[in-house]
Amino acid sequence: MNKRVFSGTRATGRLHLGNYLGAVKGYLELQNDPDYETIYMVMDLHAITTPFDKEKLAENTRNVIMDYLACGLDPEKSIISAQSLIPEHTYLSHIFSSEISVARMQHLPTFKEKIAQHPDNVTMALLNYPVLMAADILLYKASLVPVGVDQEPHLEVAREIARKMNQKYGMDFPEPKSFSTKGKYVPSLLGEGKMSKSVSKSFINLTDDLDTIRVKLSLVPTDNGKGNELSTKGGVFALLELYELFIDREGRKDYEDKYLSTGIKYSELKDNLARAIASRLEPIQKERKYYEDHPEEVDRIIKDGAQKAGKIAKETIKEVKEKMGFIA
Ligand code: TYM
Repeated sequence: MNKRVFSGTRATGRLHLGNYLGAVKGYLELQNDPDYETIYMVMDLHAITTPFDKEKLAENTRNVIMDYLACGLDPEKSIISAQSLIPEHTYLSHIFSSEISVARMQHLPTFKEKIAQHPDNVTMALLNYPVLMAADILLYKASLVPVGVDQEPHLEVAREIARKMNQKYGMDFPEPKSFSTKGKYVPSLLGEGKMSKSVSKSFINLTDDLDTIRVKLSLVPTDNGKGNELSTKGGVFALLELYELFIDREGRKDYEDKYLSTGIKYSELKDNLARAIASRLEPIQKERKYYEDHPEEVDRIIKDGAQKAGKIAKETIKEVKEKMGFIA
């Protein structure tokens, strides 16, 4: 049997370079490998765990789907849909929430981060976020999950829940592992932490044009171009990481050598990088235009995907209910 893969992105608007390099490139690699059966969704139920705008939820969901398609996700090869269209995700999430403690959830780094960001929005949905994520993956018995490194603590929760369900009820859930790409941790343009939608000016969107990219890169904090040692954080590090991801490792090495000797000219580095990013994004943006002009096709892909995913989801729920002793 083919190995099943599941992953997704919250419906918080457009994808940025971190999402693309850390996750979507992995989605593509596995989609194009015939040994895997791939399911990729937009996690719109996860989007409501932080403050959201009801006027924009559907639009944000469609925007992520269009970015997926523009990057090369293919409905002939992958199931592509939106989480909220398959109610079994929340069903399984409720069941799983009986298998894990409140304290375990409260100690997760992502929960602490979100509380700090939105102190007035510490909801049950936020606390339950990783449980819903475990349900997303295990509903399809997926064993491989292409994600960035920030999601590792959540995968640990999914493995814990899988083990419990297998031991207590004789389920055969796999213990899902992450699948990483070269860009599994894309740093923020501000030089602190990772590139993130929730930190303005930290990211470049897949839909940004050359001028926008230039402006965003011009704001990356740098120094006088020289030093005794290379840092593994800060703006200069972020530029060098992006240089390697979008141009090559040799070029990065050259800049590193210059940093330790004659000095780097950041205007030149930033200009090379802006062009390289823009030319990588150009074909994605062209492809996206097609889907922007054909919204009915996007909706059909989402609906077809939900139907296919729903079939698998129903089987798992039936099995879980039987094994747990619910009435038939
Ligand atoms: P989200 O929406 O925050 O991000 C989507 C994907 O992008 C990756 N990512 C990054 N990778 C490298 N560098 C970065 N700076 C960067 N920023 C984001 C994330 O690791 C992720 O893979 N909890 C998930 C959504 C989710 C999910 C799931 C994922 C819900 N259910 C089931 C996999 C399986 C999230 O918030 O991703």
